[in-house]
Amino acid sequence: MSCFHIFKAKRGRSSPELRNQETSKSNDLPSSSRVVKSTGSIPSPRSIPEMYKEKEHNLRVFSYTELRNATNNFNRLVKIGEGGFGSVYKGSIRPSNGLGDLVMVAIKKLNKNGLQGHKEWLAEVQFLGIVDHPNLVKLIGYCCVDGERGIQRLLVYEYMPNKSLEDHLFGRAVQVLPWVTRLQIILGAAQGLAYLHGGLEVQVIYRDFKSSNVLLDMDFKPKLSDFGLAREGPMGNNTHVSTTPVGTYGYAAPEYVETGHLTTHCDLWSFGVVLYEILTGRRALDRNRPTMEQKLLDWVKRFPADSKKFSLIIDPRIRNQYSPSATRKIAKLADACLNKNPKERPTMDEVVEILKQAIQESEEMNLRLEFLHPMANGCALFVVDELCCPGV
Ligand SMILES: Nc1ncnc2c1ncn2[C@@H]1O[C@H](COP(=O)(O)OP(=O)(O)OP(=O)(O)O)[C@@H](O)[C@H]1O
Ligand SMILES: [Mg+2]
Repeated sequence: MSCFHIFKAKRGRSSPELRNQETSKSNDLPSSSRVVKSTGSIPSPRSIPEMYKEKEHNLRVFSYTELRNATNNFNRLVKIGEGGFGSVYKGSIRPSNGLGDLVMVAIKKLNKNGLQGHKEWLAEVQFLGIVDHPNLVKLIGYCCVDGERGIQRLLVYEYMPNKSLEDHLFGRAVQVLPWVTRLQIILGAAQGLAYLHGGLEVQVIYRDFKSSNVLLDMDFKPKLSDFGLAREGPMGNNTHVSTTPVGTYGYAAPEYVETGHLTTHCDLWSFGVVLYEILTGRRALDRNRPTMEQKLLDWVKRFPADSKKFSLIIDPRIRNQYSPSATRKIAKLADACLNKNPKERPTMDEVVEILKQAIQESEEMNLRLEFLHPMANGCALFVVDELCCPGV
């Protein structure tokens, strides 16, 4: 899905140097949102670039030749994806100590004409360079070359073999993503966001939460990728960060699109959209559907969680395996995230708690039914749960 850039992004102040293999040129940083400086007694929190400086040695610096060799000259046969930043390739690199087997990685190569460009590449290096959480993708290193052959910007990530949540919900995946797996994936993603909002020295607003940015590892554990649009949250008495609105159509919070005022509440809105995507198996925006059904949020409004019609919006591919009370809970959670008033949206920590309850409820229901009807294959689940919920 395409990103929107309503205005051209502004350049920020100058940066500490990124270590560059072939030239040692300093680079501009994305502007820091910090506005409050130390007043003396209370030390001000460090900025992202300051925190990055302390951890930059953890990232490997690759030469362009190394990454070209790792991908067989960026062969289209090993291309695994394409986004607004550029193309993504599967490759293999030597471990940093030079010993042992080759390691599989994903290599993202900036399009020379890419709109998102250098600024987002740098933001990604700096944010992923300082974060450390099981639900955030690991950045192994980068390549930054301003040579005779022009500018090259690449990022090297751990390889996520099961692609993205988007691929599984809307792609031609052979296997349907079961309901409980969807919940576990979205819980992991919520934990990643909760960490960004409250688990670091500075608050981080992710700004690009969507199903294509939730990548899945071998065990379908989710990790958030793409930190090119991430920003430091407001500092001091500020309630928001003023930015140029950027993001993806269908996922961005309305108040952010209108005013450019960025808060963690904006991530909650996008999260609510993805909750409806996992419930319905439909994209946030789908131009291939009848006009009335193209915008997911407009469509689901006609089937409120408390109404008899609610079950009609559930992804037909999971119809025999979900617990209606858990799906209602998820729809109500989505509605709370999609509150027009940003301040009335829940926090990510609250979202995590509700998701845990919904998972527990769904798993207990599965266990009960397996015990009662070992041969029922989920169909009985639907019938029994309908009885539990007379409102359906
Ligand atoms: N670390 C990774 N491991 C495996 N596949 C990846 C990895 N990173 C990205 N991909 C694949 O590449 C695809 C494109 O990713 P990318 O982030 O460039 O674009 P996008 O998320 O689809 O769009 P946008 O640029 O708007 O964010 C992903 O959907 C995923 O399938
Ligand atoms: Mg992406």
